[in-house]
Amino acid sequence: MINIPKGTKDVLPAEVYLWHHVENTARACAERYGFREIRTPVFEHTELFARGVGDTTDIVGKEMYTFLDKGNRSVTLRPEGTAGVARSFVEHSLGGGVLPFKAYYLISAFRYERPQAGRLREFHQFGAELYGAEGAVADAEIIALADGFLRDLGLKNVALQINSIGCKTCRAQYHQALKEYFRPHLSSMCADCKARFEKNPMRMIDCKEEGCKAITAGAPRMLDYLCGDCRAHFNEVKTLLDGAGIHYTVNPSIVRGLDYYSRTVFEFTSAAAGAQGTVLGGGRYDSLLEQLGSKSVPAVGFAAGLERLLMVLSAENTALPDEAALDCYLAGMDAPCREKAFLLAQELRRAGLSCETDLMARSVKAQFKYADKRGARFVAVVGSSELEEGAAEVKDMKNSSSERVKFCELAQYIAKRKGEIENG
Ligand code: HAM
Repeated sequence: MINIPKGTKDVLPAEVYLWHHVENTARACAERYGFREIRTPVFEHTELFARGVGDTTDIVGKEMYTFLDKGNRSVTLRPEGTAGVARSFVEHSLGGGVLPFKAYYLISAFRYERPQAGRLREFHQFGAELYGAEGAVADAEIIALADGFLRDLGLKNVALQINSIGCKTCRAQYHQALKEYFRPHLSSMCADCKARFEKNPMRMIDCKEEGCKAITAGAPRMLDYLCGDCRAHFNEVKTLLDGAGIHYTVNPSIVRGLDYYSRTVFEFTSAAAGAQGTVLGGGRYDSLLEQLGSKSVPAVGFAAGLERLLMVLSAENTALPDEAALDCYLAGMDAPCREKAFLLAQELRRAGLSCETDLMARSVKAQFKYADKRGARFVAVVGSSELEEGAAEVKDMKNSSSERVKFCELAQYIAKRKGEIENG
Protein backbone atom coordinates (compact mmCIF):
# COMPACT_ATOMS: atom_id res chain seq x y z
CA MET A 1 0.00 0.00 0.00
CA ILE A 2 1.24 3.49 -0.81
CA ASN A 3 0.46 5.89 2.04
CA ILE A 4 -0.28 9.60 1.93
CA PRO A 5 2.86 11.79 2.27
CA LYS A 6 3.65 12.98 5.80
CA GLY A 7 2.01 16.30 6.66
CA THR A 8 -0.77 16.03 4.07
CA LYS A 9 -4.42 15.08 4.51
CA ASP A 10 -7.24 13.67 2.42
CA VAL A 11 -10.59 15.41 2.64
CA LEU A 12 -13.04 12.54 2.33
CA PRO A 13 -16.48 12.86 0.68
CA ALA A 14 -18.24 12.49 4.04
CA GLU A 15 -16.51 15.61 5.45
CA VAL A 16 -16.11 17.79 2.36
CA TYR A 17 -19.36 19.67 3.04
CA LEU A 18 -17.62 21.27 6.05
CA TRP A 19 -14.93 22.59 3.72
CA HIS A 20 -17.62 23.85 1.34
CA HIS A 21 -19.25 25.64 4.26
CA VAL A 22 -16.00 27.44 5.21
CA GLU A 23 -15.15 28.21 1.57
CA ASN A 24 -18.66 29.47 0.76
CA THR A 25 -18.62 31.64 3.90
CA ALA A 26 -15.24 33.07 2.84
CA ARG A 27 -16.42 33.85 -0.70
CA ALA A 28 -19.67 35.42 0.43
CA CYS A 29 -17.94 37.58 3.03
CA ALA A 30 -15.12 38.71 0.69
CA GLU A 31 -17.62 39.59 -2.02
CA ARG A 32 -19.68 41.62 0.45
CA TYR A 33 -16.57 43.74 0.98
CA GLY A 34 -16.08 44.12 -2.79
CA PHE A 35 -13.18 41.64 -3.16
CA ARG A 36 -13.08 39.44 -6.27
CA GLU A 37 -11.30 36.12 -6.58
CA ILE A 38 -7.79 35.84 -8.03
CA ARG A 39 -6.16 32.54 -9.05
CA THR A 40 -2.40 32.32 -9.44
CA PRO A 41 -0.17 29.29 -10.10
CA VAL A 42 0.65 26.69 -7.46
CA PHE A 43 4.34 27.10 -8.31
CA GLU A 44 6.36 30.23 -9.05
CA HIS A 45 9.98 31.07 -9.75
CA THR A 46 11.89 30.49 -6.50
CA GLU A 47 13.27 34.02 -6.64
CA LEU A 48 9.78 35.46 -6.08
CA PHE A 49 9.58 34.01 -2.59
CA ALA A 50 13.27 34.55 -1.80
CA ARG A 51 12.84 38.25 -2.62
CA GLY A 52 9.25 38.65 -1.45
CA VAL A 53 8.90 36.58 1.72
CA GLY A 54 12.52 37.26 2.71
CA ASP A 55 15.62 35.12 3.02
CA THR A 56 15.93 35.52 6.80
CA THR A 57 12.54 33.85 7.35
CA ASP A 58 12.14 30.19 8.32
CA ILE A 59 9.82 29.82 5.33
CA VAL A 60 12.50 30.70 2.78
CA GLY A 61 15.45 29.38 4.78
CA LYS A 62 14.08 25.97 5.73
CA GLU A 63 10.57 25.22 4.56
CA MET A 64 10.21 25.67 0.83
CA TYR A 65 9.44 22.86 -1.60
CA THR A 66 11.98 23.93 -4.20
CA PHE A 67 13.10 21.88 -7.17
CA LEU A 68 14.64 22.17 -10.61
CA ASP A 69 12.14 21.51 -13.40
CA LYS A 70 13.11 19.66 -16.57
CA GLY A 71 14.25 22.95 -18.08
CA ASN A 72 16.67 23.45 -15.17
CA ARG A 73 14.67 26.35 -13.73
CA SER A 74 14.34 26.61 -9.96
CA VAL A 75 10.67 26.62 -9.07
CA THR A 76 8.91 26.51 -5.68
CA LEU A 77 5.49 25.33 -4.56
CA ARG A 78 3.91 28.46 -3.05
CA PRO A 79 4.44 28.62 0.73
CA GLU A 80 1.78 31.38 0.91
CA GLY A 81 -0.45 33.42 -1.40
CA THR A 82 0.67 37.04 -1.06
CA ALA A 83 3.82 36.94 -3.21
CA GLY A 84 1.94 35.37 -6.16
CA VAL A 85 -0.83 37.97 -5.99
CA ALA A 86 1.75 40.77 -5.83
CA ARG A 87 3.64 39.30 -8.80
CA SER A 88 0.41 39.05 -10.79
CA PHE A 89 -0.57 42.64 -9.94
CA VAL A 90 2.80 43.92 -11.17
CA GLU A 91 2.94 41.65 -14.23
CA HIS A 92 -0.53 42.71 -15.46
CA SER A 93 0.10 46.39 -14.64
CA LEU A 94 -3.04 46.38 -12.51
CA GLY A 95 -1.77 49.48 -10.73
CA GLY A 96 -2.79 51.45 -13.84
CA GLY A 97 -6.38 50.20 -13.52
CA VAL A 98 -9.10 50.67 -10.94
CA LEU A 99 -7.70 51.24 -7.45
CA PRO A 100 -7.96 50.08 -4.78
CA PHE A 101 -7.35 46.60 -6.14
CA LYS A 102 -9.10 44.07 -3.90
CA ALA A 103 -8.64 40.35 -4.41
CA TYR A 104 -9.22 37.20 -2.39
CA TYR A 105 -8.05 33.62 -2.84
CA LEU A 106 -8.69 30.09 -1.61
CA ILE A 107 -5.49 28.12 -2.15
CA SER A 108 -3.35 25.22 -1.06
CA ALA A 109 0.12 26.17 0.20
CA PHE A 110 3.21 24.12 1.03
CA ARG A 111 5.76 24.37 3.81
CA TYR A 112 8.23 21.68 4.82
CA GLU A 113 7.46 21.96 8.53
CA ARG A 114 7.47 19.38 11.33
CA PRO A 115 3.84 18.19 11.21
CA GLN A 116 1.71 18.41 14.35
CA ALA A 117 -1.88 19.35 15.23
CA GLY A 118 -2.75 22.35 13.05
CA ARG A 119 0.58 22.30 11.26
CA LEU A 120 0.76 20.55 7.90
CA ARG A 121 3.05 20.42 4.90
CA GLU A 122 0.17 20.99 2.53
CA PHE A 123 -2.43 23.32 4.04
CA HIS A 124 -5.12 25.65 2.77
CA GLN A 125 -5.62 29.37 3.08
CA PHE A 126 -8.35 31.91 2.55
CA GLY A 127 -6.57 35.21 1.96
CA ALA A 128 -7.37 38.75 0.87
CA GLU A 129 -5.12 41.54 -0.42
CA LEU A 130 -5.89 45.24 -0.86
CA TYR A 131 -3.53 47.42 -2.95
CA GLY A 132 -3.30 51.14 -3.55
CA ALA A 133 -4.63 52.57 -0.27
CA GLU A 134 -2.12 53.89 2.26
CA GLY A 135 -4.51 55.22 4.89
CA ALA A 136 -5.34 53.47 8.17
CA VAL A 137 -8.88 52.91 6.91
CA ALA A 138 -7.53 50.21 4.53
CA ASP A 139 -5.90 48.38 7.47
CA ALA A 140 -9.20 48.66 9.36
CA GLU A 141 -11.15 47.40 6.34
CA ILE A 142 -8.91 44.33 5.99
CA ILE A 143 -9.16 43.58 9.72
CA ALA A 144 -12.95 44.09 9.55
CA LEU A 145 -13.16 41.59 6.66
CA ALA A 146 -11.11 39.05 8.64
CA ASP A 147 -13.24 39.64 11.74
CA GLY A 148 -16.48 39.49 9.71
CA PHE A 149 -15.44 36.17 8.18
CA LEU A 150 -14.71 34.62 11.59
CA ARG A 151 -18.03 35.98 12.91
CA ASP A 152 -19.92 34.62 9.88
CA LEU A 153 -18.46 31.22 10.72
CA GLY A 154 -19.90 31.64 14.21
CA LEU A 155 -16.55 31.53 16.03
CA LYS A 156 -16.59 33.11 19.46
CA ASN A 157 -13.31 32.42 21.23
CA VAL A 158 -10.94 33.89 18.68
CA ALA A 159 -8.99 36.90 19.89
CA LEU A 160 -7.49 39.69 17.77
CA GLN A 161 -4.02 40.98 18.63
CA ILE A 162 -2.46 43.90 16.81
CA ASN A 163 0.90 45.62 16.73
CA SER A 164 2.87 48.09 14.63
CA ILE A 165 6.35 47.21 13.43
CA GLY A 166 6.98 50.66 11.96
CA CYS A 167 8.48 51.69 8.63
CA LYS A 168 12.00 51.56 7.17
CA THR A 169 12.92 54.80 8.92
CA CYS A 170 11.89 53.97 12.45
CA ARG A 171 12.87 50.33 12.17
CA ALA A 172 16.51 51.27 11.47
CA GLN A 173 16.66 52.92 14.90
CA TYR A 174 14.91 49.98 16.48
CA HIS A 175 17.37 47.51 14.92
CA GLN A 176 20.19 49.53 16.49
CA ALA A 177 18.52 49.29 19.90
CA LEU A 178 17.94 45.54 19.45
CA LYS A 179 21.57 44.98 18.49
CA GLU A 180 22.75 46.82 21.59
CA TYR A 181 20.42 44.71 23.72
CA PHE A 182 21.28 41.34 22.13
CA ARG A 183 25.06 41.83 21.68
CA PRO A 184 26.02 40.74 25.23
CA HIS A 185 23.73 37.66 24.98
CA LEU A 186 24.67 36.62 21.47
CA SER A 187 27.12 33.84 22.41
CA SER A 188 24.34 31.95 24.24
CA MET A 189 21.80 32.30 21.44
CA CYS A 190 21.04 29.79 18.65
CA ALA A 191 22.85 29.76 15.30
CA ASP A 192 19.77 31.16 13.52
CA CYS A 193 19.64 34.11 15.90
CA LYS A 194 23.32 34.80 15.34
CA ALA A 195 22.60 35.07 11.59
CA ARG A 196 19.44 37.12 12.24
CA PHE A 197 21.49 39.53 14.41
CA GLU A 198 23.40 40.59 11.29
CA LYS A 199 20.63 40.51 8.73
CA ASN A 200 17.33 41.21 10.51
CA PRO A 201 17.52 41.48 14.31
CA MET A 202 13.72 41.92 14.64
CA ARG A 203 13.31 38.30 13.56
CA MET A 204 15.13 37.26 16.78
CA ILE A 205 11.98 38.31 18.70
CA ASP A 206 10.12 35.47 16.99
CA CYS A 207 12.65 32.71 17.83
CA LYS A 208 11.04 29.50 19.11
CA GLU A 209 14.18 28.18 20.89
CA GLU A 210 13.59 28.08 24.67
CA GLY A 211 17.04 29.57 25.47
CA CYS A 212 16.49 32.48 23.07
CA LYS A 213 12.91 33.10 24.21
CA ALA A 214 14.11 33.87 27.76
CA ILE A 215 16.49 36.50 26.37
CA THR A 216 14.06 38.06 23.87
CA ALA A 217 11.45 38.52 26.64
CA GLY A 218 13.37 41.58 27.88
CA ALA A 219 14.17 43.04 24.44
CA PRO A 220 13.14 46.61 23.46
CA ARG A 221 9.71 46.88 21.85
CA MET A 222 9.14 48.33 18.39
CA LEU A 223 6.12 50.26 19.68
CA ASP A 224 8.48 52.46 21.71
CA TYR A 225 10.45 53.39 18.58
CA LEU A 226 7.65 54.29 16.15
CA CYS A 227 8.16 57.54 14.21
CA GLY A 228 5.42 60.18 14.34
CA ASP A 229 3.74 59.04 11.10
CA CYS A 230 3.71 55.37 12.09
CA ARG A 231 2.38 56.22 15.54
CA ALA A 232 -0.43 58.35 14.05
CA HIS A 233 -1.25 55.55 11.58
CA PHE A 234 -1.43 52.97 14.36
CA ASN A 235 -3.58 55.24 16.53
CA GLU A 236 -5.99 55.76 13.65
CA VAL A 237 -6.26 51.99 13.04
CA LYS A 238 -7.13 51.53 16.71
CA THR A 239 -9.71 54.35 16.63
CA LEU A 240 -11.40 52.83 13.57
CA LEU A 241 -11.47 49.35 15.14
CA ASP A 242 -12.90 50.82 18.37
CA GLY A 243 -15.58 52.62 16.36
CA ALA A 244 -16.46 49.44 14.47
CA GLY A 245 -16.78 47.48 17.72
CA ILE A 246 -13.92 45.14 16.81
CA HIS A 247 -12.21 44.05 20.01
CA TYR A 248 -8.41 43.71 20.09
CA THR A 249 -5.45 43.80 22.37
CA VAL A 250 -2.13 45.39 21.49
CA ASN A 251 0.60 42.75 21.63
CA PRO A 252 4.05 44.32 21.13
CA SER A 253 5.69 40.96 20.52
CA ILE A 254 3.87 40.18 17.26
CA VAL A 255 6.44 40.53 14.46
CA ARG A 256 5.02 37.90 12.00
CA GLY A 257 7.06 35.23 10.24
CA LEU A 258 7.44 36.98 6.88
CA ASP A 259 9.77 39.88 6.05
CA TYR A 260 7.50 42.03 3.92
CA TYR A 261 5.48 43.69 6.67
CA SER A 262 5.56 47.31 7.77
CA ARG A 263 3.36 49.24 10.20
CA THR A 264 0.20 47.30 11.19
CA VAL A 265 0.48 43.55 11.86
CA PHE A 266 -2.25 41.40 13.39
CA GLU A 267 -3.17 37.85 14.35
CA PHE A 268 -6.39 36.14 15.37
CA THR A 269 -5.62 33.34 17.81
CA SER A 270 -7.52 30.51 19.45
CA ALA A 271 -6.40 27.97 22.04
CA ALA A 272 -8.07 25.31 19.88
CA ALA A 273 -5.88 25.87 16.80
CA GLY A 274 -3.00 23.59 17.73
CA ALA A 275 0.38 24.49 19.17
CA GLN A 276 0.72 27.74 17.23
CA GLY A 277 -2.75 29.02 17.99
CA THR A 278 -2.86 31.48 15.09
CA VAL A 279 -5.83 30.93 12.80
CA LEU A 280 -5.39 34.09 10.75
CA GLY A 281 -2.53 36.52 10.28
CA GLY A 282 -1.76 39.55 8.20
CA GLY A 283 -0.67 43.14 8.01
CA ARG A 284 0.50 46.02 5.88
CA TYR A 285 3.36 45.50 3.43
CA ASP A 286 4.03 48.78 1.63
CA SER A 287 7.39 47.90 0.06
CA LEU A 288 6.73 44.44 -1.44
CA LEU A 289 5.35 45.61 -4.78
CA GLU A 290 8.23 48.02 -5.29
CA GLN A 291 10.62 45.19 -4.47
CA LEU A 292 9.02 43.17 -7.26
CA GLY A 293 9.64 45.90 -9.82
CA SER A 294 6.52 48.05 -9.59
CA LYS A 295 6.30 51.70 -8.61
CA SER A 296 5.58 52.03 -4.92
CA VAL A 297 2.07 50.69 -4.12
CA PRO A 298 0.79 50.47 -0.55
CA ALA A 299 -0.63 47.06 0.36
CA VAL A 300 -2.37 45.28 3.21
CA GLY A 301 -3.81 41.76 3.54
CA PHE A 302 -4.31 38.60 5.57
CA ALA A 303 -4.58 34.84 5.26
CA ALA A 304 -6.44 32.31 7.41
CA GLY A 305 -5.55 28.62 7.68
CA LEU A 306 -8.58 26.49 6.78
CA GLU A 307 -7.43 23.36 8.66
CA ARG A 308 -6.97 25.42 11.83
CA LEU A 309 -10.37 27.05 11.35
CA LEU A 310 -12.01 23.63 11.05
CA MET A 311 -10.26 22.54 14.27
CA VAL A 312 -11.61 25.61 16.08
CA LEU A 313 -15.12 25.17 14.65
CA SER A 314 -15.17 21.65 15.99
CA ALA A 315 -13.63 22.57 19.39
CA GLU A 316 -16.14 25.40 19.86
CA ASN A 317 -19.02 23.11 18.90
CA THR A 318 -20.14 25.74 16.41
CA ALA A 319 -23.50 25.09 14.77
CA LEU A 320 -22.73 23.77 11.29
CA PRO A 321 -25.10 23.17 8.41
CA ASP A 322 -26.06 19.54 7.79
CA GLU A 323 -24.79 17.85 4.69
CA ALA A 324 -27.37 18.51 1.93
CA ALA A 325 -29.81 15.57 1.91
CA LEU A 326 -30.51 13.50 -1.18
CA ASP A 327 -33.94 14.57 -2.49
CA CYS A 328 -35.01 11.15 -3.66
CA TYR A 329 -33.84 7.55 -4.00
CA LEU A 330 -35.41 5.49 -6.82
CA ALA A 331 -35.68 1.85 -5.73
CA GLY A 332 -36.37 -0.92 -8.26
CA MET A 333 -37.57 -4.42 -7.36
CA ASP A 334 -36.15 -6.43 -10.26
CA ALA A 335 -34.28 -5.79 -13.50
CA PRO A 336 -37.17 -4.17 -15.49
CA CYS A 337 -38.14 -2.07 -12.43
CA ARG A 338 -34.53 -1.00 -11.92
CA GLU A 339 -34.40 0.10 -15.54
CA LYS A 340 -37.53 2.23 -15.04
CA ALA A 341 -36.03 3.59 -11.80
CA PHE A 342 -32.89 4.56 -13.71
CA LEU A 343 -34.96 6.42 -16.35
CA LEU A 344 -37.04 8.18 -13.69
CA ALA A 345 -33.87 9.18 -11.84
CA GLN A 346 -32.66 10.90 -15.01
CA GLU A 347 -35.95 12.84 -15.23
CA LEU A 348 -35.64 13.98 -11.63
CA ARG A 349 -32.04 15.11 -12.12
CA ARG A 350 -33.04 17.07 -15.24
CA ALA A 351 -35.63 18.77 -13.07
CA GLY A 352 -32.82 19.87 -10.72
CA LEU A 353 -33.39 17.31 -7.97
CA SER A 354 -30.63 15.25 -6.40
CA CYS A 355 -31.35 11.62 -6.92
CA GLU A 356 -29.75 8.19 -6.81
CA THR A 357 -30.81 4.76 -7.93
CA ASP A 358 -29.51 1.22 -7.51
CA LEU A 359 -26.32 0.38 -9.39
CA MET A 360 -25.55 -2.86 -7.52
CA ALA A 361 -28.59 -5.07 -8.31
CA ARG A 362 -29.48 -5.13 -4.60
CA SER A 363 -32.73 -6.20 -2.95
CA VAL A 364 -35.31 -3.49 -2.21
CA LYS A 365 -34.57 -3.90 1.50
CA ALA A 366 -30.86 -3.29 0.91
CA GLN A 367 -31.72 -0.31 -1.33
CA PHE A 368 -33.78 1.20 1.50
CA LYS A 369 -30.84 0.73 3.86
CA TYR A 370 -28.53 2.53 1.42
CA ALA A 371 -31.10 5.34 0.89
CA ASP A 372 -31.32 5.78 4.65
CA LYS A 373 -27.52 5.97 5.02
CA ARG A 374 -27.37 8.60 2.28
CA GLY A 375 -30.05 10.61 4.06
CA ALA A 376 -32.60 10.40 1.23
CA ARG A 377 -35.70 12.49 2.03
CA PHE A 378 -38.00 10.37 -0.17
CA VAL A 379 -37.76 6.88 -1.60
CA ALA A 380 -39.82 6.11 -4.70
CA VAL A 381 -40.33 2.37 -5.15
CA VAL A 382 -40.93 0.77 -8.51
CA GLY A 383 -42.20 -2.81 -8.16
CA SER A 384 -43.98 -4.93 -10.76
CA SER A 385 -47.47 -3.66 -9.78
CA GLU A 386 -46.20 -0.04 -9.88
CA LEU A 387 -44.65 -0.68 -13.28
CA GLU A 388 -47.98 -1.98 -14.56
CA GLU A 389 -49.86 0.95 -13.05
CA GLY A 390 -47.39 3.59 -14.26
CA ALA A 391 -46.96 5.05 -10.73
CA ALA A 392 -44.34 4.81 -7.95
CA GLU A 393 -44.97 4.30 -4.25
CA VAL A 394 -43.28 7.34 -2.69
CA LYS A 395 -42.28 6.99 0.93
CA ASP A 396 -41.55 10.00 3.12
CA MET A 397 -38.48 8.83 5.05
CA LYS A 398 -39.15 11.22 7.97
CA ASN A 399 -42.66 10.06 8.89
CA SER A 400 -42.95 6.78 6.95
CA SER A 401 -46.20 7.90 5.22
CA SER A 402 -46.47 6.94 1.55
CA GLU A 403 -48.37 7.97 -1.54
CA ARG A 404 -48.84 6.66 -5.08
CA VAL A 405 -47.52 9.13 -7.65
CA LYS A 406 -47.77 8.75 -11.43
CA PHE A 407 -44.35 8.36 -13.10
CA CYS A 408 -45.06 11.39 -15.30
CA GLU A 409 -45.76 13.53 -12.20
CA LEU A 410 -42.97 12.23 -9.98
CA ALA A 411 -40.41 15.00 -10.57
CA GLN A 412 -43.06 17.67 -10.04
CA TYR A 413 -44.30 15.94 -6.88
CA ILE A 414 -40.84 15.62 -5.28
CA ALA A 415 -39.99 19.23 -6.20
CA LYS A 416 -43.26 20.43 -4.61
CA ARG A 417 -42.74 18.42 -1.40
CA LYS A 418 -39.13 19.61 -1.21
CA GLY A 419 -40.30 23.23 -1.54
CA GLU A 420 -42.86 22.72 1.23
CA ILE A 421 -40.20 21.27 3.55
CA GLU A 422 -37.77 24.12 2.81
CA ASN A 423 -40.44 26.74 3.47
CA GLY A 424 -41.35 25.07 6.75
P1 HAM B 1 1.10 33.19 7.77
O1 HAM B 1 0.94 33.71 9.15
O2 HAM B 1 2.38 32.56 7.42
O3 HAM B 1 0.82 34.43 6.82
O4 HAM B 1 -0.06 32.17 7.44
C1 HAM B 1 -1.42 32.54 7.59
C2 HAM B 1 -2.19 31.41 8.24
O5 HAM B 1 -2.00 30.19 7.50
C3 HAM B 1 -1.72 31.05 9.65
O6 HAM B 1 -2.31 31.91 10.59
C4 HAM B 1 -2.23 29.62 9.79
O7 HAM B 1 -3.59 29.61 10.15
C5 HAM B 1 -2.07 29.08 8.38
N1 HAM B 1 -0.83 28.27 8.28
C6 HAM B 1 0.43 28.70 8.07
N2 HAM B 1 1.29 27.66 8.04
C7 HAM B 1 0.56 26.55 8.24
C8 HAM B 1 0.85 25.15 8.31
N3 HAM B 1 2.09 24.68 8.13
N4 HAM B 1 -0.17 24.28 8.53
C9 HAM B 1 -1.45 24.73 8.69
N5 HAM B 1 -1.78 26.04 8.62
C10 HAM B 1 -0.80 26.94 8.40
C11 HAM B 1 0.80 34.34 5.47
O8 HAM B 1 0.81 33.31 4.83
C12 HAM B 1 0.68 35.69 4.81
N6 HAM B 1 0.74 35.50 3.35
C13 HAM B 1 -0.62 36.37 5.21
C14 HAM B 1 -0.81 37.70 4.54
C15 HAM B 1 -1.57 37.95 3.45
N7 HAM B 1 -0.24 38.83 4.88
C16 HAM B 1 -0.62 39.78 4.05
N8 HAM B 1 -1.42 39.27 3.17
